[in-house]
Amino acid sequence: MCGIVGILSRDAAAPQLVDGLKRLEYRGYDSAGVATLEGGRIVRRRAEGKLRNLEAKLAAEPLSGRAGVGHTRWATHGAPTEANAHPHATERVAVVHNGIIENFRELREELTAEGAVFTSQTDTEVIAHLVSSLLEAGAAPRLAVAEALKRLRGAFALAFLFAGEEDLIIGARRGSPLAIGHGDGEVYLGSDAVALAPFTDEITYLEDGDWAALTRSNVEIFDENDAPVARPTVRSAVASVVVDKGQYRHFMAKEIAEQPEVVGHTLTRFVDMTSGRISLPAGADFDFSRLDRLAISACGTAYYAGLVARYWFEKFARLPVDIDIASEFRYREPPLTPGGLALMISQSGETADTLATLRHCRAQGMKIGAVVNVPTSTIAREADVVFPTTAGVEVGVASTKAFTCQLAVLAALAIKAGRDRKVLSEADEARLVASLIEVPRLMAETLHLEPEIEKLASAFAKAQDVLYLGRGTSYPIALEGALKLKEISYIHAEGYAAGELKHGPIALVDENVPVVVLAPFDVLFEKTASNMQEVAARGGKIVLITDAEGAAHAGETFATLVVPKAYAFVSPLIYAVPIQLLAYHTAVFMGTDVDQPRNLAKSVTVE
Ligand code: AGP
Repeated sequence: MCGIVGILSRDAAAPQLVDGLKRLEYRGYDSAGVATLEGGRIVRRRAEGKLRNLEAKLAAEPLSGRAGVGHTRWATHGAPTEANAHPHATERVAVVHNGIIENFRELREELTAEGAVFTSQTDTEVIAHLVSSLLEAGAAPRLAVAEALKRLRGAFALAFLFAGEEDLIIGARRGSPLAIGHGDGEVYLGSDAVALAPFTDEITYLEDGDWAALTRSNVEIFDENDAPVARPTVRSAVASVVVDKGQYRHFMAKEIAEQPEVVGHTLTRFVDMTSGRISLPAGADFDFSRLDRLAISACGTAYYAGLVARYWFEKFARLPVDIDIASEFRYREPPLTPGGLALMISQSGETADTLATLRHCRAQGMKIGAVVNVPTSTIAREADVVFPTTAGVEVGVASTKAFTCQLAVLAALAIKAGRDRKVLSEADEARLVASLIEVPRLMAETLHLEPEIEKLASAFAKAQDVLYLGRGTSYPIALEGALKLKEISYIHAEGYAAGELKHGPIALVDENVPVVVLAPFDVLFEKTASNMQEVAARGGKIVLITDAEGAAHAGETFATLVVPKAYAFVSPLIYAVPIQLLAYHTAVFMGTDVDQPRNLAKSVTVE
């Protein structure tokens, strides 16, 4: 994930910007830069690699300006070079950016046709030229940013600095977090409270869609409709901790909210955003063309990610998949192909059952792939090839952002396998990748369902049993939804393939049993809709999670949660969000220990 810092200081801003960026190093980056106003003019210092390279440049060519923005960049569009490092700027405006601008190509073409000269391969630079063109047309900075934001599609956080404006920085949040820090005669912007800890503990968190105009004496915040809004200022307890709950009551809540940002970050490591094709990370470029079968093994939530991936590998790569939970896989003694690939999926990279299965597969002569969130973990170290999820530190025992990042990685691998095995056309690959690139924005929009879902929690809290139903790739998401509810609210829940309902579980259904039905309006919807009728006929409380078309075609429900329309391919990533929120708010209503549920450990290092 990239890091953002902005400062209106009483002294030289550059050293403070670097200090704030150092607090964001935990996010990972491969270049950095600052921009300040020197005599009203925008001046930049940028460097490849670590912050010490930027500090060396600043030592050689100091900046004394008191207003500035800074950035640590994880390369997304374009290599980690100085030319691609942020801030990106024109004469009039400098901008730093975290996230993905989905429509940057069309904007770049439009702005180039208007005479803009681009000096980088980044999506960010189009923002600088877009705001600059509005300023040149006579718009004041606030209006220029407000209008530019309406042209951008994607999930992002931004900070702007304007030539000649010694007492103004503007920030915007859409899908990636951004916070305001209040100092004594100073004001700050940062990706999180950690970045601002060197300067202040008085923090105002922007809500999704907000943008804010900051001066040293005043902060104006506006919502996505440009209406002035007030957001609470809280005292952050960050100090030295690298990860904090921020404005959230629990780590799980923060990690659910972080998904647009971290899924976007994970995707940028597997997708060449410029070409719109899959491009595996350096050192992880695996060729699937010679595989005739794929083995997948994992535990718990990671196993459900693997179940989704089976559909994708078999459908888009025509690659048969053997998958099982790690505690069973090796005891079945499945026939394994020496030289084949065994894919282990694990957030912690330390789960004993998964590690034991890795070693079993290696002993059978298989190559080991690992989809892990901790690159220094045992599973990562023992694998032949690591496919990293860059979810950041996941503190909540219930896995959320790591799960959707696992799905993002597995989706990219399935497309790569289809291309390698020559069963996926370039056009198909482009279509599937384009749907992946939309996911951060769609997840951010889905998070807006939270108030509706919170209202449902009280009904779920009274239940003894809850059923989750899904078909196709929604079936593993149903399993995951049941696990989430069980593990943090302690309510018994079962996930089932919707078609299995009449083969037994329907005996459980009565007016006391909430039935969560995951059903995007796709080829399977009608069949699932009839399963819903079977439930309704027995008085079951149906909570349908679907898109607008599904809601229009569904019958009577207890509640219907409408998520954004998404390609069927990526619906598991979108539908994971409401089931996570449902479990979270039910557990909060029940008063359980959401981040450390009873009997559970974040990493199960015993078999
Ligand atoms: C998920 O919410 C649970 N905490 C648990 O099922 C977890 O997914 C499982 O223990 C696997 O952990 P890992 O991903 O670290 O291997």
